[in-house]
Amino acid sequence: MITADNQQWLRDNALKVLDSVVDAIITINAQGIIQSVNEATLGLFGYTSAELVGQPVTQLMPEPYRNQHQSYIENFLTTRQAKIIGIGRELSAITRDGHVFPIYLAVNEIKTDQGSYFAGIIRDLTEQKANQQALLEQRERLAQVGRLSTMGEMTASIAHEINQPLTAIAAYAQACMKLLEKDDADLARVADGLRKLNAQSLRAGAVIERIQRFVRHEGSQKEMVDVNELMRDLLHLAAADARLHSVELNFELQPDLPALYCDPVQIQQVALNLIRNAIDAMLEVDCVHGRDIVVSTRMVGTQAEVAVKDLGTGVSEENEPMLFSPFHTTKAEGMGMGLSICRSIMLEHGGDLSFVNNEEGHGSTFYFRLPAGEDNE
Ligand SMILES: Nc1ncnc2c1ncn2[C@@H]1O[C@H](COP(=O)(O)OP(=O)(O)OP(=O)(O)O)[C@@H](O)[C@H]1O
Ligand SMILES: [Mg+2]
Repeated sequence: MITADNQQWLRDNALKVLDSVVDAIITINAQGIIQSVNEATLGLFGYTSAELVGQPVTQLMPEPYRNQHQSYIENFLTTRQAKIIGIGRELSAITRDGHVFPIYLAVNEIKTDQGSYFAGIIRDLTEQKANQQALLEQRERLAQVGRLSTMGEMTASIAHEINQPLTAIAAYAQACMKLLEKDDADLARVADGLRKLNAQSLRAGAVIERIQRFVRHEGSQKEMVDVNELMRDLLHLAAADARLHSVELNFELQPDLPALYCDPVQIQQVALNLIRNAIDAMLEVDCVHGRDIVVSTRMVGTQAEVAVKDLGTGVSEENEPMLFSPFHTTKAEGMGMGLSICRSIMLEHGGDLSFVNNEEGHGSTFYFRLPAGEDNE
């Protein structure tokens, strides 16, 4: 509240207040001639106050503002339609040595007995603009990295999936040629070889069609599924693998989980990949910490979680940053695609894939979470 006391204080100290403000404050008359400037103006523009007061304010403006300024003031005074006055906007200003920099300008009209004056408050936006630019560049770099890694994943899975039928096609073609080289070529066997060759080429075509669907984001076929049911089904798929290496698969499934809207085949693929990795990690330490892998499900907030806990190597600090990158592997036979493809699948489902090293004991737990309920797209 302004009382008589602090009115007086303000009158005594107004100049000090003006000079302590970090923004430049400039007053001009209706002819655009500078009447006063505060301390910050001098620092910002590099002039002395004698060089500014009495001079046209346009000397602080680069073109095209310089030319428009006077007609703008006159226009305002006759029509009172404001473009800046009472509103404020981003513009450019120019220093004594010709450096143009971004500013935010707010102007107010001061009505006095001698007519209209204007006070402009100028904030230097150089730093703010530089920060914005840096942020934009960083976002662009991230987007680029994202695109590259998706392309890396795509390329690898195309290579992987098409290589098999192509190898088979080449083998059948060679076999057929050999058969035909003989004088009494067995045409029935040749026909059989060609049929198989044809089947493999259709398979390669199907892979390409799937990739095209994936690129068009029609990749997955989602439905409402019981995730516990999915994991139980998985037992048959993963158990053989586990048994082969004398590793035990245990299930701890929380009953009454809500149904999830997801592509059941893809979700099983993700879980299977995590189990394969878990088995590898346990074998790497010769199962010295035990032979049990636990696959569990539970609700975490509104998300359903599937976790695969192993007693393997755990994830080292140096391995961690690369873990989900395509082609990163610590295995002699590994392709390094498992986790990066799994994470893509999870992101496509509106979920996520992550891991923790086990707090007690050894090994790590890889888990994925999916939003429960109808539709998460
Ligand atoms: N359960 C785990 N414990 C410890 N390290 C793991 C575990 N799972 C994955 N890793 C580490 O992450 C790396 C990447 O795993 P990812 O599944 O992407 O590729 P990979 O298993 O090496 O090869 P593939 O493409 O055949 O799956 C592994 O090489 C391993 O170093
Ligand atoms: Mg793997």
